[in-house]
Amino acid sequence: MKQSPEVVIVSNRGPLSFKVADDGALVARRGGGGLVSVLGPAVAGSGATWIAGAISELDRRAASEGVVEADGFRLRSLVIDPDAYRAYYHVVSSGALWFVYHRLYDSPRRPRFDRHFRQAWDAYREVNATFARAVADGAAEGAVVFVQDYHLSLLGATLAAERPDLTTVHFHHTPFGGPDDLAMLPDDVAVELLDGLASHHACGFQAPRWAAAFEASCQALLGRCCPTFVSPAAVEPAEIASVAASPACAEALAELDRHVGDRRLVVRVDRIELSKNLLRGFHAFDELLQSRPQWRERVVFGAFVYPSREGLPEYLAYRQETEGLVRQINERWATPGWTPILYDPSDDFPRSVAALRGYDVLLVNPVRDGLNLVAKEGPLVNERDGVLVLSRESGAWAELGGAALGINPFDVSATADVLHQALSMGGEERRVHARAVRDLAGTRTPADWLADQLRAAASARGV
Ligand code: F6P
Repeated sequence: MKQSPEVVIVSNRGPLSFKVADDGALVARRGGGGLVSVLGPAVAGSGATWIAGAISELDRRAASEGVVEADGFRLRSLVIDPDAYRAYYHVVSSGALWFVYHRLYDSPRRPRFDRHFRQAWDAYREVNATFARAVADGAAEGAVVFVQDYHLSLLGATLAAERPDLTTVHFHHTPFGGPDDLAMLPDDVAVELLDGLASHHACGFQAPRWAAAFEASCQALLGRCCPTFVSPAAVEPAEIASVAASPACAEALAELDRHVGDRRLVVRVDRIELSKNLLRGFHAFDELLQSRPQWRERVVFGAFVYPSREGLPEYLAYRQETEGLVRQINERWATPGWTPILYDPSDDFPRSVAALRGYDVLLVNPVRDGLNLVAKEGPLVNERDGVLVLSRESGAWAELGGAALGINPFDVSATADVLHQALSMGGEERRVHARAVRDLAGTRTPADWLADQLRAAASARGV
């Protein structure tokens, strides 16, 4: 009987992060981020090997203790020189590629591709080479290798040269840039990135437009491309349902109910992340209160957000600006019994899920987003026939746009109008809307996502 090939997952952030228990032992808990919420359930019990970077000091300690067996897969963490890691992660991955793919630059000032960037680019190459070496040295003959995201763009070329027996597939969880976006990068960097990606047997994306952008960039800059496929990530219903059913979530929902009372509740759940468009979301709420006085004292905006990438000055400044704006809006409109914005940066997952259970309107308004899992998680756990207001610039729009209320995320006035429309919908209209969005959001599971990756690999191998 023919044996299935070994599956190797490679990602920057791993499925586990470590902390020290009271007895001094290292204990693993689930790592954060959208990628892990999809890959974790997809890979659990699969017997795959997962290679990831050891990010914190404790992760590094755990890595030095060897391979960890976890949840039906094997985790191998790579210890990387902290200076090289900082340059690879902060300067190139988060500070340049993320900005290009999400179009976040304040272009009169940034980007500035100078000597500092060139050094960081060398570090990016070095860290990519470390990951490639770990795969090349460790993968079984004929293994299938799934490389994740923009941190690891260069593995394809190295693995094709060193281990032609492997089948390698790259998946981007972010948007991808077309030729005009990539024109911002130094010419040789753009070509090296695309060459790394196009050297895979296939590249996968969250939405058709990101696949099309990748193909257009490859054709324009390389004159060739590899096969592409589209495979939107999905929520594991049992996993989110178990958080929704937890006592911590019930307690958080009761507390939220006490705070909101009989008012309507608009919710957002996001990282404090430039691409998530928090500022325009709050401006839209401010404009709603200004232009539709009937909502004053009748609605609360619950923002369940959590800090992210605070090593980058842009993110710290964005957080300060966001919190300043929330204060201003609250000062402008608050009355003795009502605070319009409930701002909660406590990174408490059960509390966020409670807010998703209880929203009347969920605002998901990124300026650009690979997919946006919250747009699927919300409708799957919501218990109030809530309305989804969704940015047309999110990858999730390709799947949910048939039912969600769409917005141009740059148009604050239009967002305020759509919030009003969503808040004003009657009971039956809400029921029909919520059912349609829930059906679309639950169409796929993480197992479907993994099956797509395996199919792409199999078709590359001609089986
Ligand atoms: O959206 C893709 C993704 O890799 C998510 O998994 C994650 O939330 C984010 O980008 C990366 O975040 P971080 O820089 O914290 O790993």
